[in-house]
Amino acid sequence: MSKTRAKLKNYLYPIPAVPVSCTDSDGRPNIITVAWTGVACGTPPMVSVAINLMRYSHGIIKETGTFCINIPDNETLYATDYCGNVSGKDVDKFQELGLTPVKGEETGCHYIDECPINMECQVRHSIVLGSHELFIGEVVAVHARDGVLTAEGRVNIDNLKLFAYVGPDYYAIGEKLGQYGYSVSRRSR
Ligand SMILES: Cc1cc2nc3c(=O)[nH]c(=O)nc-3n(C[C@H](O)[C@H](O)[C@H](O)COP(=O)(O)O)c2cc1C
Repeated sequence: MSKTRAKLKNYLYPIPAVPVSCTDSDGRPNIITVAWTGVACGTPPMVSVAINLMRYSHGIIKETGTFCINIPDNETLYATDYCGNVSGKDVDKFQELGLTPVKGEETGCHYIDECPINMECQVRHSIVLGSHELFIGEVVAVHARDGVLTAEGRVNIDNLKLFAYVGPDYYAIGEKLGQYGYSVSRRSR
């Protein structure tokens, strides 16, 4: 197999791209789009977001210690892209996009009502790694639109139009290729 050394940067794809909302100490909500996000722990449930130190939202999350991860679908993709290309220091993104901020019960941080799932997060750890600070937040409340979760609490992909990010492009998630454990299940042999 012929390979060449590539430029040193992140090639971890596909990844999510999510609008992350935050609320400043005067109660003004903002949204920053984050692709460098991930699951960090199961019990307690924790997620991470890597925010560039230069971002307007960085100061807000640093100050308040809260953020909300909003899971976008195809209908909120446009807003997701917009929030990643315009700064909250210049524009009220909720107002500009006609999005509804809902004050989170547990954190006071506003989430985006139009996104099907919202996770209120309380920052438990943070570490400056270089250009970005990694915030690790405990999920302290989840809000889910009716029908997007199964009775077992799994994401119901049939009722959600999800997309993935393979920078700089967004792709619809569609075809099912297998399921957890199918490689070792008797039925697949
Ligand atoms: C698809 C996409 C993914 C992005 N991922 C990140 C990220 O992981 N971390 C980050 O700091 N900025 C990321 N950005 C850039 C910020 O979202 C962008 O600079 C935004 O305008 C900052 O908003 P603010 O100034 O209101 O904080 C991303 C932008 C896009 C479009």
